[in-house]
Amino acid sequence: MSNAIVIAPSILSADLGHLAREIADVEAGGADWVHVDVVDGRFAPHLTFGPATVKAARRATRLPIDVHLMVNEPERYLEAFAKAGADTITVHEEACVDLAVALAQIRSLGKRAGVALKPETSVDTLAPYLGALDLVLVLCVSPGASGQAFQESQLPKIAAVRKMIDQSGQPIDLEVDGGVSSDNAGRIARAGGRVFVSGSKIFDTPDRAEAIQKLRRAAAGD
Ligand code: DX5
Ligand code: ZN
Repeated sequence: MSNAIVIAPSILSADLGHLAREIADVEAGGADWVHVDVVDGRFAPHLTFGPATVKAARRATRLPIDVHLMVNEPERYLEAFAKAGADTITVHEEACVDLAVALAQIRSLGKRAGVALKPETSVDTLAPYLGALDLVLVLCVSPGASGQAFQESQLPKIAAVRKMIDQSGQPIDLEVDGGVSSDNAGRIARAGGRVFVSGSKIFDTPDRAEAIQKLRRAAAGD
């Protein structure tokens, strides 16, 4: 973990007919990671990607691939996503049969293990798992879709997760996802967020380099 700002564009908002080109565009534009939102239509009411898309993304970039699994029983798919080239795999506690087992499995596959908190999920969920985690994702919108408004009520939660991570002394990344923009990135960073996921604010604009730079500057407080 470092204190540096990480920008992770979510390909949920990319032009999927040109996925490799879209990823190359954000990589050239200064992105640090590529975020892949996997939704199964059961954990959340949308259907998005599977391991084949992660494999395609892996071939398109050298950047770390950050996979956010919004699927029930993610344990069934961890190996497939690991093999497809994910670097970080993040799961939701409510979706797991056993979160401890899922996190251990992700690490045993040689990948970084993350836990995501939905807006209504308590920070206390994390406490037993701090030694088994490489990343915490605070989701600031309902799971599943891009383009939703950032829930301001999540800012105190980001601060609470930051405090918990710092007190644990573990090198855990704090990622913020959903409705992130240059309007709120400064407040998110002050609350302790370091990894900024953004879908619509990056891919729905023609100049991705400018969008990424704008987000990074806002996060840095410039
Ligand atoms: C929401 C996803 C997000 C989403 C972000 O379920 O986890 O990653 O795609 O998109 P924006 O930045 O448009 O809210
Ligand atoms: Zn996500």
